[in-house]
Amino acid sequence: MTIQSKQDIIALKEIGRIVAHTLQVMLDALEEGMTTLELDQIGRKILASYAARPAPELVYGFPGATCISINEQVAHAIPGKRKIRQGDLVNIDVSAELNGYFADTGASIPFGPVAPVAKRLCAATQEALQQCLKVARAGNTMADLQKAINCVAERNRFSVIQNLAGHGIGHHLHEEPQHVPDNSREKDRRRFQKGMVVTLEPFLSTGPRQAKEMADGWTLVTPVGHFTAQYEHTIIVTETEPIILTAYSA
Ligand code: CO
Ligand code: CO
Repeated sequence: MTIQSKQDIIALKEIGRIVAHTLQVMLDALEEGMTTLELDQIGRKILASYAARPAPELVYGFPGATCISINEQVAHAIPGKRKIRQGDLVNIDVSAELNGYFADTGASIPFGPVAPVAKRLCAATQEALQQCLKVARAGNTMADLQKAINCVAERNRFSVIQNLAGHGIGHHLHEEPQHVPDNSREKDRRRFQKGMVVTLEPFLSTGPRQAKEMADGWTLVTPVGHFTAQYEHTIIVTETEPIILTAYSA
């Protein structure tokens, strides 16, 4: 969506704060041996306490309130019996709706002593998101965003997952512009416009460039042994720095 009124901004900030807080509580709640379903239920409760509705369930009938993806799982893994173990790289993605407005956020966190490469991957992916925040401003192209992500990945010798990207958001979980940036085009010439609401969510991996869907119809994976990291914010584009709707503050 594109911002039309002050009310739009207020409502987006509200749902942005809710998903950011939910993500933070879930990250803090991580415990050895906890199942992803148990972690999901913590998130579900927090969202419910705000009367916010989990977006994956609401929009797509996803069997869970949040997406919790571990190690070779890239995204959209179904909360279930898998236990969180020391050394896991855990990604939690929280999106929700309140009063007709959506926000979406995510983060990867190394649990316990992870492989050094997983730590470096997290640092590089966070850096990629920071670069995205610098580039996503009115007048710049989505090719600029593509370039920013690719530069960080290359410098750190990681790959960019090509078939996952940010997206328009606001009145729907996924709306125009789709694929921010669109990696299927060599140069994505679409421009960021003032007031545009989008997510920025680079996915970097230790090698694979494509996430493949599993037979469950939801979980996206790379071959076992690889790691993927993602960090995501929902933003409002301005002529200068974006308004970050999902920044967490206690
Ligand atoms: Co997300
Ligand atoms: Co998203």
